Amino acid sequence: MKLSPQLLKEYQDNGFLILPELFSAEEIASIRAAMERVFGEEDEANIREKKSGVVRTAMGLHLRDALFKRLVRHPRLVEPARQIAGDDLYVQQVKINVKAAFEGEQWQWHQDFSTHHNDDGVPEPLALNLHIFLDDVNEFNGPLYFFKGSQKFGSVATLHDTETTSYALWVVEPDKVKEVSESCELVSATGKAGTALIFGDCLIHGSPPNMSPWNRAIFSLILNPVDNAYTSESRKDHHHHRDLTPVQAAVTQDDAKGR
Ligand code: SIN
Ligand code: MN
Repeated sequence: MKLSPQLLKEYQDNGFLILPELFSAEEIASIRAAMERVFGEEDEANIREKKSGVVRTAMGLHLRDALFKRLVRHPRLVEPARQIAGDDLYVQQVKINVKAAFEGEQWQWHQDFSTHHNDDGVPEPLALNLHIFLDDVNEFNGPLYFFKGSQKFGSVATLHDTETTSYALWVVEPDKVKEVSESCELVSATGKAGTALIFGDCLIHGSPPNMSPWNRAIFSLILNPVDNAYTSESRKDHHHHRDLTPVQAAVTQDDAKGR
């Protein structure tokens, strides 16, 4: 699947793309079944919420389940990513972030690049984050919030927050967020299960707690150019995989038909 010139321009202007219902209900059902399997495991790559103890993020998925091993090579993810970020991309991180109904906590304002750079020594903000909604995501169950066009600020100063949630994050300070908000519209990324998102390493984003009665699970694949690889191995492999083999798009029946 290739992105049209119009979608590529939208990505360059806004810093993200929302691709409604890119994956079918049947495909989402299979991914969800695999999700249940990995969530049931006692594994250090299943990270739990600080307060409730329910799983917040499950990582290293392509090494834990055959379905995720195939999914990270899916043409509907890999081909658009290669159009934007170049041919030779390695699998940096593979996870599902869940915001459980009533329990899911926030993700503070951040740029993914701060973590990639400060923790893993990635030189440039070239990685892409590719999401697939595994539930319907609405205004109430903790959607991602994007400052549209905020990637144009480049890499901004951040503080390491180890307190707010169970997942330590380099966060953008409130004064900077306020400044960005003066020129960038705030949008929430909502859509039906199967919707995909693509966003870049400098887009400023976050998400609120989920006080709704509806779960919100999102699959996330981070791909990074091989020539922009990590230079530090301080974090565990499931945070940033060491294997630099370029990912190849596998042909699926649907994509062979041109979807
Ligand atoms: C992220 O920033 O990539 C995760 C945010 C979320 O899952 O809500
Ligand atoms: Mn993020």
